[in-house]
Amino acid sequence: MNYGAENEAKANFDDVYVQPTPHAYVRKMALHGYQIGEQARPYCLAAAELLKERNGEAWPVQMLDVGCSYGMGSAFVKYGCSFDEIVAFFSSRAPKDYASCCEVMRMWLNVTSPVSDMRCVGLDSSAPAIQFGLDSGLLEGGLSRDLEDADVLPTETDVKWFRSCNFLMSTGAIGYVSERTFSKVLPHLGKDHPSDFGPFALVTTLRMFDIEPIYRIFKQSGLRLTSVPGIRLPQRNFADESEQMQICRILHDKRIDTKKYEDEGTLFADLFVAAPVEQLTQLVEKVKLVESKLSSANIFSFIQR
Ligand SMILES: C[S@@+](CC[C@H](N)C(=O)[O-])C[C@H]1O[C@@H](n2cnc3c(N)ncnc32)[C@H](O)[C@@H]1O
Repeated sequence: MNYGAENEAKANFDDVYVQPTPHAYVRKMALHGYQIGEQARPYCLAAAELLKERNGEAWPVQMLDVGCSYGMGSAFVKYGCSFDEIVAFFSSRAPKDYASCCEVMRMWLNVTSPVSDMRCVGLDSSAPAIQFGLDSGLLEGGLSRDLEDADVLPTETDVKWFRSCNFLMSTGAIGYVSERTFSKVLPHLGKDHPSDFGPFALVTTLRMFDIEPIYRIFKQSGLRLTSVPGIRLPQRNFADESEQMQICRILHDKRIDTKKYEDEGTLFADLFVAAPVEQLTQLVEKVKLVESKLSSANIFSFIQR
């Protein structure tokens, strides 16, 4: 699927994806109120917890973050960092010099106990971002590949990483990545432990992107992808009025109602999870439970105000 018109309507942040350190990326994302990684975190943690409950030590959780940037999924999900903490870190404590930045990041991670016992592997087309993820210790494995390119196939080593991962996550990347990338990853995902629980996937996608071709690739790979009803997450603020107008027009052309969502100035994403068909209900229930706990907590704090 070519998401040409949708990507054309979106603000372009390509320059900040390929800097040696995350400073510019974090600054730009903060400027636009980017929050999808942090929003998805509790649901990723729930999926990882279910895998851990069912597989125990036999198959520890290994997460593949597709479009991971500098290792953001690891920072959020494994280390439990908030985006505000990351912004504060890169705007004050992290030196711009590459080696010093990696060293300070490693020191930070050393004193930050992981909130989830997992290993993280990142896939991103940006070589500098992957290099930073590896050198800073955010990623245990990193693949800088553009699998959207028809001429690029996963290497033998890439396939080994995919086989060893039992949880795929992706936030803010669909649109840049499509079924072309998933068709090269999913046939291998989790194949090291075919009889265990999983693999699972959790992806967020902006409402304007058609998920159907990706759904088909999951199905061909033996996984069922479904949206989780009732979970719609804010991704970021529109960069300007022109972006809002163009994206709302695309959504309206697809008969998607933007009232209470994009009309208010924020881009929204839907949450999808995937699992082998017989495990899907358990995964969906686990994720919905998180949602109901978060809603109750929000109502409680609203009442207390
Ligand atoms: C908006 S960032 C999302 C980063 C991270 N997942 C998050 O939510 O914080 C989009 C990422 O997709 C990556 N990307 C763009 N094209 C890609 C491709 N063809 N394959 C893999 N990653 C790609 C970019 O380099 C960038 O790191």
